[in-house]
Amino acid sequence: MKFPVIQGGMGIGVSLGRLSGSVAACGGAGTISAVGIGYRQADHFKAFLESNLRAMEEEFQKARSLSADGVVGFNIMTVITDYVTYVKKAVALKADFIVSGAGLPLELPKYVKGTETQAVPIVSSAKAAKIILRTWKKKWEYIPQLIIIEGPEAGGHLGFKASYFEKGEKESLKDLLMSVREVIAPFEEQLKEKIQLVVAGGIVTPEDVKAALDMGADGVQMGTRFLATEECDADPRYKQKYVEATEEDVIIIQSPVGLPGRALKNPFTLEGAKDRMRCRNCLTPCDPATTIYCIADALERAVRGDVDNGLLFTGSQVGKIHSLKKVKEIFAEFEAIL
Ligand SMILES: Cc1cc2nc3c(=O)[nH]c(=O)nc-3n(C[C@H](O)[C@H](O)[C@H](O)COP(=O)(O)O)c2cc1C
Repeated sequence: MKFPVIQGGMGIGVSLGRLSGSVAACGGAGTISAVGIGYRQADHFKAFLESNLRAMEEEFQKARSLSADGVVGFNIMTVITDYVTYVKKAVALKADFIVSGAGLPLELPKYVKGTETQAVPIVSSAKAAKIILRTWKKKWEYIPQLIIIEGPEAGGHLGFKASYFEKGEKESLKDLLMSVREVIAPFEEQLKEKIQLVVAGGIVTPEDVKAALDMGADGVQMGTRFLATEECDADPRYKQKYVEATEEDVIIIQSPVGLPGRALKNPFTLEGAKDRMRCRNCLTPCDPATTIYCIADALERAVRGDVDNGLLFTGSQVGKIHSLKKVKEIFAEFEAIL
């Protein structure tokens, strides 16, 4: 990899083959989000799992057609129904990595050990990193080469309690990085190998990337910046919202899956859902009988361009984005500063 930059997985349908392949072609790591990936397939509601597996293959091939030997992987959240089936599919496709967060991916090494696919956990605390490393080492004799640390400024579902944001607490990404570094030290010692630590959340500009590397991170993962690109797989009306958004347009919401999330203010997030629920049974923590709205529907509406009635996840620093860029332009800016 030429640049220590991972484009974060963004569901539903935000980071697919085009975005991830374009990032990989520029020397970063591109991530296809597996959640609800088959939403454009004609049989999506009739054959949810099959349509998603088919779409995984199509999107991976699309990415590979843009970058035959760049780094391309999948983001597969631990909370998705049939998690193991998606993991096995990514391994069969020879994806370079599987990133798993939104819960502890304790069983992931079982499916990737000895294959060409690396297991990469996302954590939001040193405690989570410790549990994962201890379990992976003990149960599978597997230690990740890389861990993503997602801080409180990130877009999408957040690995912090709602009270964290209500109290205005702010653990800096640097503190989080240092605490994870401490936890991994004994494992690195045993292995005589370094585990790369990649930080995510609120990183938008080349200066932000440089600051993250200067504070000791081995790399960065960025979501929102790559969302506002020509190659991003979402509808142009969706992307335009991020270009226009300012800091004041960002709010913390409580998602139906029981986690806080960060999103753009719009009629949907301010006034609530006007939803006709079409359950895909896509997330294990979601109970269709009690959920306030279907998050998959809400994300899909947004990505299809219904920006008033859909859910637009965002990182906190979206206000720093002023134009839609080509992925190539973003990497040229990194080249100039790194
Ligand atoms: C629209 C959107 C969708 C996302 N979807 C996922 C997802 O499906 N799985 C996941 O692990 N992270 C998801 N994320 C988090 C990103 O992968 C990334 O870690 C995060 O956006 C980093 O923060 P930033 O947006 O400030 O750069 C999403 C983020 C956004 C903005």
